[in-house]
Amino acid sequence: MSQELWTAVDSYFNELLLPPDPALESALAASADGGLPDIQVAPNQGKLLWLLAKLIGAKHVLEVGTLGGYSTIWLGKGMLPKGRLITLEIDPKHMEIAAENIANAQLPVLAEVRGGSALDLLPALHAEGGEPFDLVFIDADKVNTPTYFEWALKLTHVGSLIIVDNVVRKGAVIETDTTDPNVQGIRRFLEMAANEPRVTGTAFQTVGSKGYDGLSIFLVTG
Ligand code: SAH
Ligand code: DHB
Ligand code: MG
Repeated sequence: MSQELWTAVDSYFNELLLPPDPALESALAASADGGLPDIQVAPNQGKLLWLLAKLIGAKHVLEVGTLGGYSTIWLGKGMLPKGRLITLEIDPKHMEIAAENIANAQLPVLAEVRGGSALDLLPALHAEGGEPFDLVFIDADKVNTPTYFEWALKLTHVGSLIIVDNVVRKGAVIETDTTDPNVQGIRRFLEMAANEPRVTGTAFQTVGSKGYDGLSIFLVTG
């Protein structure tokens, strides 16, 4: 079993199930041209985000970690028209490329890229007291995932989804004595979610064009 095989299977699925989409493809191309790291969700994972947004009729969506806006565009396409999509990004260059990619996608929602650390932007968003979010996608620095999850709980309502990317890290997630702060962050987040009575959810491993990692999905229940 190899990366080559995982990538070939992803290509097979994507060619069958994901019709070509110029906005998504040009976002990927512009991100690569701009020298952004190739760490956005895979196309078939993006379609999962799209599906989840569709399934819950998401009108208010929050993303933590924009990169070039690839996952943002998938989410935006899955949302109800006239919804509000806010995505948070610390790197000005990522932000700039994302803003261009998102504008180019002509999403049917009001999309806003906010620049700065999510550690500051999330409390500010909470203080604004806007509509709660129906879906939060957490995909930024892994070390702060527990904090982002806590803010997501404050910014959502019963029935919202909280989705967290990169929960497997090539299997490193089970290393109890890990010194990797990213893995420690993911482990702390999972333990927090497991002990949090207001959510119920699951985590699963994925292989594909993006290697070996995983995703977790939680439903806010109370
Ligand atoms: N969600 C994107 C990928 C995000 S990669 C996609 O799938 O298309 C992670 C992003 O989080 C990077 O762009 C990085 O600059 C950003 N990031 C890292 N630390 C952050 C922080 N403290 N606040 C906001 N964004 C952060
Ligand atoms: C990294 C970050 C991601 O969000 C991802 O999906 C894959 C890798 C990283 O920082 O290496
Ligand atoms: Mg990720």
